[in-house]
Amino acid sequence: MSVLRVTATAPGVVKLFGEHAVVYGKPAIAMAINKGIKVTVEETNDDSLVILAKDLSVKGIAIRVTGGLIEGNVIDDGQLSRLASYALTALRLVSEKYGGDLRGIRVIIESQLPIGAGLATSAAVSVAAVAAYARLINVKLSKEDIAKISHSVELTVQGAASPMDTATSSIGGVMYIKPGIELKRLSTSLKIPLVVGYVERESTTSELVKRVKALYGKYPAVIEKVMDSIGAIVDEALAALNKSDYVALGELMNINQGLLEALGVSNHRLSNIVYMARRAGALGAKLSGGGGGGAVIALAPGVEDKVAIAVKLAGGEVILIDANYEGVRIEDYG
Ligand code: MEV
Repeated sequence: MSVLRVTATAPGVVKLFGEHAVVYGKPAIAMAINKGIKVTVEETNDDSLVILAKDLSVKGIAIRVTGGLIEGNVIDDGQLSRLASYALTALRLVSEKYGGDLRGIRVIIESQLPIGAGLATSAAVSVAAVAAYARLINVKLSKEDIAKISHSVELTVQGAASPMDTATSSIGGVMYIKPGIELKRLSTSLKIPLVVGYVERESTTSELVKRVKALYGKYPAVIEKVMDSIGAIVDEALAALNKSDYVALGELMNINQGLLEALGVSNHRLSNIVYMARRAGALGAKLSGGGGGGAVIALAPGVEDKVAIAVKLAGGEVILIDANYEGVRIEDYG
């Protein structure tokens, strides 16, 4: 049955272990969260492609794409227009592969997440846009297909990206990712009581990925060992998750943070939050994602409130999250 309007909601993602090393083929563990991005794709009567993006903090943007040219009024700080380029690329890749027409389409992006906080908003936009547009043009995709196409969207827009964020956002739950080899949804029933904080980012993920690459190029023998150690942490963390061992998970988060510091992707604001969270009783705390600002996660069973206060005192905003086990959700309206 053909539809005129589809909404897809894709969850944001916290990276539990293994970010950056996952770009070099090491494993990682990530968890989908119960806040995300909603993309609505609808048919219109004119022949242009319009992308509207809004969140709670800015007025939004409207981008009109006519004959390959992007025009329009951009009324934001750049973050929302960044998201629009992922949505546009998602529609382009789906239409190139399956033959949809991009004219007469309006895309509306709405975020429940602070954009640029390191919670995988770009992956969630890509996943939701791929899922919504494919449904609109009557193409049936599995969540794994959506994950694959969305990964190509991130690669096209950013140049480098692992499949971690797009796979986790698409499929949901707690995922173990070993690029090119294994993508496994963990069946852990363990509740992972995380306090999530964030600060403004100084750099984008792709800038930080490039910086790590440069460091690797300069000190290959040193950085290779750091990457290997992060990979070993992930495998230990998998065992700790299977044993519901919070103490080990916390210790491994702390070691992972040390190695992210070694890669140069933490900064004083993130490290400050990490130390304050640990002092308030968190079993472990680390940055989560690309770094350079963005998200921090603290494992805080039984002390969530105290740790949340510590994160705020250290200058972070706190987001209340839970796990999302559904992944991308699609609703259509005839
Ligand atoms: C970004 O969320 C995580 C990084 O590992 C980059 C990636 O996996 O593409 C830094």
